[in-house]
Amino acid sequence: MSTSPSPTLPSADPLANKAQAWSALFTEPMSELVQRYTASVNFDKRLWRADIDGSMAHARMLGAQGIINAEDVAAIERGMTQIVGEIESGQFQWQLALEDVHLNIEARLTQLVGDAGKRLHTGRSRNDQVATDVRLWLRGEIDGLAVLLAEMQRSLLTLAESHADTVMPGFTHLQVAQPVSFAHHLLAYVEMFARDAERLADARRRTNRLPLGAAALAGTSYPLDRHAVARALGFEALCTNSLDAVSDRDFALEFSSFASICMVHVSRLAEEIVLWMSQNFSFIDLADRYCTGSSIMPQKRNPDVAELARGKSGRVIGHLMGLLTLMKGQPLTYNKDNQEDKEPLFDTVDTLRDTLRIMAEMVGGIRVKAAAMEAAALKGYATATDLADYLVKKGLPFRDAHEAVAHAVKVAIAQGLDLSQLPLDTLRGFHASIGDDVFEVLSLKGSLNARQVLGGTAPARVREALAAHRRRLG
Ligand code: ARG
Repeated sequence: MSTSPSPTLPSADPLANKAQAWSALFTEPMSELVQRYTASVNFDKRLWRADIDGSMAHARMLGAQGIINAEDVAAIERGMTQIVGEIESGQFQWQLALEDVHLNIEARLTQLVGDAGKRLHTGRSRNDQVATDVRLWLRGEIDGLAVLLAEMQRSLLTLAESHADTVMPGFTHLQVAQPVSFAHHLLAYVEMFARDAERLADARRRTNRLPLGAAALAGTSYPLDRHAVARALGFEALCTNSLDAVSDRDFALEFSSFASICMVHVSRLAEEIVLWMSQNFSFIDLADRYCTGSSIMPQKRNPDVAELARGKSGRVIGHLMGLLTLMKGQPLTYNKDNQEDKEPLFDTVDTLRDTLRIMAEMVGGIRVKAAAMEAAALKGYATATDLADYLVKKGLPFRDAHEAVAHAVKVAIAQGLDLSQLPLDTLRGFHASIGDDVFEVLSLKGSLNARQVLGGTAPARVREALAAHRRRLG
């Protein structure tokens, strides 16, 4: 089967002619402003490899189906190989007048191999082409991000492995609550990033579906073998409704949601790092290479990297809002609005990639000030719950125990002492059942060790969790 020349592409020299009218239907060329306003090549050229991979799979399938002949397929392969070389070496001439990555590559192909290049677009539209390209590109980025997410977890895990027995105050309302193992605290972030990795893998499944074959919107009259194209490109399924195939950007929304949640986790960790490094906490120090100084205050070492990671979560969340808003009013099917999906998506990928890399590195350079953490844990009556639990074990109802300990804390505050520093006689004044075994209970170590429940902060449980994460992550 052969096709008549495409009516939308100029026939002689597409690079020269594109600055003129779009097709024979038009009586005048686009204004320069409209050209600039509608062009996307400045940013979507980033999709070039996916575009060429998609075109090659399409061309080979057209050949196998007898829609174009073997010489045309060979010519397209030859032309595309040259184009890959030109793009990789920076010699490819991207033309704004050719609007986007797709038309730039197709025009150059036609320049190089003539009519075979003009046959490539048989049974295809830029609508299914761009949807295919973005999915292919994003799939590759997802795989890279999955590696970085594992690295982030490993970095936290490695730090945690040295600190199962390091005690820090656990907070609620940013008030000292109960002592916890520092490793336990770090593993909370490992859990968050592990869930992010699950979300990412799930988003990948729905990204990895092939739109090609939907053509402009309704499918095509050529006998395409969509399964063959999917196999060639590593897609695990086909988009099964042509109208949905060209207009669906759920995969971008899902990815962007994943990225936003992940950046929220990064941001919370970054916030804690900033707090921990401040003189008022002094729980950690960061390696100098992750800090900056002040132009006026010579004593300053600022945790800029952590602050920026926290700040950059804003733009990733903003991109999610932008993409959701982009999609919400669009009637089926493809609309040019969709061209606006790329910059937010690209920036989301870039921001998340750089942020995960730098945060993983920075966590690896954290120096822990265990003595300061422990001193802080001793300050806020963090073992008051342990005293209440102790009384419950002696037979008091929990609410009565809670009240007795509130009195004890009040007295301790008035005397400027920790609960464990009150004499046994004083403690017995709050309840007669208190014996000298209470001091073990009131110690930080005793408090941690008491929390043996699955998921609790007892160092024995924490060591099991560390081992399980290490087995999972390697
Ligand atoms: N540059 C366009 C985009 O990113 C490609 C698809 C254009 N399709 C069209 N019918 N104008 O969405």
